[in-house]
Amino acid sequence: MKTYIKHDPWQIIEDQFRPDHNEFSESIFAIGNGRMGQRANFEEYFSGKSLQGSYLAGIYYPDKTRVGWWKNGYPEYFAKVINSFNWIGLDILVNGQRLDLAKVNIRSFERRLDMRHGVLQRSFVVQLPDGAEVKVDATRMYHLFASETASLQYKLQALTGDIAIELTSFLDAEVLNRDSNYDEKFWESLAQGQQGDNLFVSSRTKKTGFEVCAELETLVTGAAGVIEVGQTISENGYMAQRYRATVGRSQTLCIEKRVAIVTSENHAVEKLKTVATERLTELRAFDFDQLKEKQSKAWKAIWDESDIEILGDIAAQQAIRYNIFQLNQTYTGEDARLNIGPKGFTGEKYGGVTYWDTEAYCIPFYLATQSPEVARNLLLYRYQQLDKAIENATKLGFGNGAALFPMVTINGEECHNEWEITFEEIHRNGAIAFAIYNYVRYTGDTDYIWSHGLDVLIAISRFWAQRVNWSADKQQFVMLGVTGPNEYENNVNNNWYTNRIASWCLEYTLACLRNAERSQSAIFASLVDRLKLTAEEQNHWQHIIDNLYFPYDEKRKIFLQQDGFLDKELIPVQELDPLQRPINQKWSWDRILRSCYIKQADVLQGFYFLEEHFGDDTLARHFDFYEPLTVHESSLSPCVHAILAAKLGKTAKAYEFYLRTARLDLDDYNNDTDDGLHITSMAGTWMTIVEGFAGMRVKDGQLYLNPMLPPEWEGYKFRILFRGATLLIAVDADGYTIENISDTSVHIQTATEDFVLAGQDRKQVSQLR
Ligand code: BGC
Repeated sequence: MKTYIKHDPWQIIEDQFRPDHNEFSESIFAIGNGRMGQRANFEEYFSGKSLQGSYLAGIYYPDKTRVGWWKNGYPEYFAKVINSFNWIGLDILVNGQRLDLAKVNIRSFERRLDMRHGVLQRSFVVQLPDGAEVKVDATRMYHLFASETASLQYKLQALTGDIAIELTSFLDAEVLNRDSNYDEKFWESLAQGQQGDNLFVSSRTKKTGFEVCAELETLVTGAAGVIEVGQTISENGYMAQRYRATVGRSQTLCIEKRVAIVTSENHAVEKLKTVATERLTELRAFDFDQLKEKQSKAWKAIWDESDIEILGDIAAQQAIRYNIFQLNQTYTGEDARLNIGPKGFTGEKYGGVTYWDTEAYCIPFYLATQSPEVARNLLLYRYQQLDKAIENATKLGFGNGAALFPMVTINGEECHNEWEITFEEIHRNGAIAFAIYNYVRYTGDTDYIWSHGLDVLIAISRFWAQRVNWSADKQQFVMLGVTGPNEYENNVNNNWYTNRIASWCLEYTLACLRNAERSQSAIFASLVDRLKLTAEEQNHWQHIIDNLYFPYDEKRKIFLQQDGFLDKELIPVQELDPLQRPINQKWSWDRILRSCYIKQADVLQGFYFLEEHFGDDTLARHFDFYEPLTVHESSLSPCVHAILAAKLGKTAKAYEFYLRTARLDLDDYNNDTDDGLHITSMAGTWMTIVEGFAGMRVKDGQLYLNPMLPPEWEGYKFRILFRGATLLIAVDADGYTIENISDTSVHIQTATEDFVLAGQDRKQVSQLR
């Protein structure tokens, strides 16, 4: 763990330079705007530990698969959203000595991420080898209001006497990925040059052929006004402008850089250069302070709809805002081709591509804090990839339009290459179906089922129907050779969660079909015809639902995670030597597989998704059995446990899990934040408060609330959007109020009442859970 980030309600602050932890801080202070984003790399040259990372949504390279032992069916490549142009670069010589924080004497250093206004700041005072001291104040933004642009301001002040500065401001397309299976370079530079006073570079990704053009404007001002460019440097994929200046004692040199980065994903290739110029021209009317105001306004609109306030607990407050901030920096939802990588734009791990995390963890956050189109676009992403999912299943021997969505993908093709996950962690199909249900339950947009949802649901049901087999021995259907969400078990038979979600998918698909038959007869008829869906096939699905096997222990009255689970030595995690943890870094894989230890919610994931199917007693029995065996070595684990613990009234546990999920990155709980942030689990943190502590659900198309107050907090307030209404819910020790700050009335259920809350009205409830 690292606990040096200062607690503050709106800011993330690091008040000292820790070169050994620089990669951690580069992740923590990462900024982005949904279209692009960047680790908090320094503007000036830095020879110390650093992971250069600047990413463009959707721009990926298919890195050829590298495995020890090839298995039939493995994908050819792993798609990676790759490190792209360095536009922030400033090479600075002070009296001929290079400004490099690894080589100078650091007098003071501070980094600040201002979440309220969407601005990254860094200030430091350093002494160079010749004794000269300089102060730097750097501010950087990825514009939320103009997502193809970003800007920075870098002020350098001479503290001890006159200094001679040589400054090179550059734009570099010749960048590498740290993660490259065959040490390949992923970009090929196409052109570079000058465009008026500006510089540009354009480059193309190898194999995928995405073209990117960036135009950079640099403005350098000293005490006597604008400083002219001394020299322009042009190399392959690299352009720079060099300036020379003398800065008198106490005077400041101000460098401003603005960049436009446009890609062939969004514009015709032949227009890229013109569009980049246009984007920068659009910013011309504004000075840096005005750009900051625009940024602040754009962030205010986000906070107005999605802020959570926690009273009396600054660490918790900072953490939830950090999670909300990062989620909004990663995905803004206007483009159905984009998705949410587990690390967003903050690192290379997981390749910036899509996992089941989106459907299982992120959808609820976007549903409640953004317009319905945002979550709908996440569903459309999978819908558009349905043909590829059918192809994927066909490759693995399935037929009749069965679909297996990939475990890891960017374009619909499977990228994961470990057989126990690629071929066996098939529960991801269940989360994709569940997300459709979740979306429709929250928004009431049943049309989505008819227009898109049923195609996906039918294809998924066809997969499950073929993936189970009849066991003559059990006289039931079974599902063999799977990996559940708990990846510390591989190739097991009858993973309860997978069987349960499969059965639920079949039920939900049949229910949607019955509904379509009743209320959308034309759509139903055309669907049946187009997909050649017979009554016999649907009857078979029902037969599977009625006869699917679920491992169960009569003695404990619990569902078993998989066949044979009780053969394991059931020693609670608490009794493990702390030096043995995390087990994924300390134990051999076979030892992990044989152990009873659970990486993340597995059976309990099913209880979370399908909670209305189980009473609280049943949930409590399962929680008490499985949680003590869970090591939570996936970032996705604590949030589900927090929600279930809150439901069961295990307040202390819920709070402990809350802190663990909320401050996972800020305090580096898993010692892996240097790779990048755990973006998808951040949506889980939000769920912990809204679904966990506030007990928010949607029941029968109505919003249901049943809040509790963790004793560590004086109160909390959150905003949600529900079916056209914006609600502000404030909880404190006396109860809670629900304020409808929109003009749309909304039907609400609480533990004791059921009422309509008119627009601009508020309701006080004195009873907490
Ligand atoms: C988890 C998966 C998750 C992936 C990406 C893994 O460690 O076990 O459930 O999809 O990380 O977040």
